[in-house]
Amino acid sequence: MLGSGLGSYADTLEDRVVVPYPEIPHMAGSAIEGHAGNLVFGRAEGVPVVAMQGRVHLYEGHSPADVVFGVRLMIRCGAQVLIVTNAAGGINEDFVVGDLMAIEDHVNLTGTSLGGRHEPDLGGTTPAPQFVDMTAAYDPQLREIAREGAHALGFNLREGVYAGMRGPAYETPAEIRMLRSLGAHAVGMSTVLEVTAARQLGARVLGISCITNKAAGLGTEELSHQDVKHAAAKAHDRFCSLLGAVLRRIE
Ligand code: HPA
Repeated sequence: MLGSGLGSYADTLEDRVVVPYPEIPHMAGSAIEGHAGNLVFGRAEGVPVVAMQGRVHLYEGHSPADVVFGVRLMIRCGAQVLIVTNAAGGINEDFVVGDLMAIEDHVNLTGTSLGGRHEPDLGGTTPAPQFVDMTAAYDPQLREIAREGAHALGFNLREGVYAGMRGPAYETPAEIRMLRSLGAHAVGMSTVLEVTAARQLGARVLGISCITNKAAGLGTEELSHQDVKHAAAKAHDRFCSLLGAVLRRIE
C-alpha cells in the first residue's frame, strides 16, 4: 500500500499488470493530488507483489469499509503480508524530514473502526473475527527484517508509534502535545484501519512512515500538502531501496 508521493514504486515492478481502480467493482478512487489509482500486480525481488498505487481516506468522506476495501481485495488475491506506507509528521524531536520510521504500534484516533454489520466471510482462510486482536498488529519479525535491510543500506531506521487522525486539517500544536503525551512519535491520516483489516484476515503487517515534516508547532514552517509531497518524493529512492531489501529478506 503506497502512500503519498511513493506510488511510483509500483512502476518498477516486473511483469506488470495494471488495473485502474475504476475497472474494479466497488473500489473507491482517490481524488487527492499525489495519489494515482491503480492496483498493480507484478514481481519484485522474485516475490509476487500486488501494489495499491493510491488509497482512499476517511477525510474524503469514504466509509471505513471503502477505506479497507483494497486491503481486503489484495488479501483475497493471496497476499500474506501487508507492507503499508504513509507520509507522517514527526512528533519525536529527534526525527528529521526524510527519515523512515518502522511503525511499532498505533493509536487509532480517527473516531471509527471496522464497525457495521459483521461479515465473517471476507475471503480469509478462516472466518474473520468481529473483535480483532491488535496485540502485535505490527509484526516484530518483519520489523527486524526492515531494520536489517536499512542497516545493510547504510541508514538508521527509526521506530515508533503512529497516531492515526481523521484529518484533513493538520493538527494544532496543542493536539501534537496531546499526541506526544499519549506516546505517539509520528502522526498521519491513514493506515490504522487498513492495518486493522489486515489483522482481521490474518495477514502480517509491516508499516513504514516517511517523515515528511515536523509535526505542527515543532518546526518553523507552516504545513502544506505541497511540502509533504515534495519531502515524500525526495525520500522515494531510499524508500524503494528499503522495500527491495525487505522483499529480498522475506523471500
Ligand atoms: N499530520 C498529519 N498527517 C500528515 C502529516 C502531519 O503532520 N504529515 C504528513 N501527513
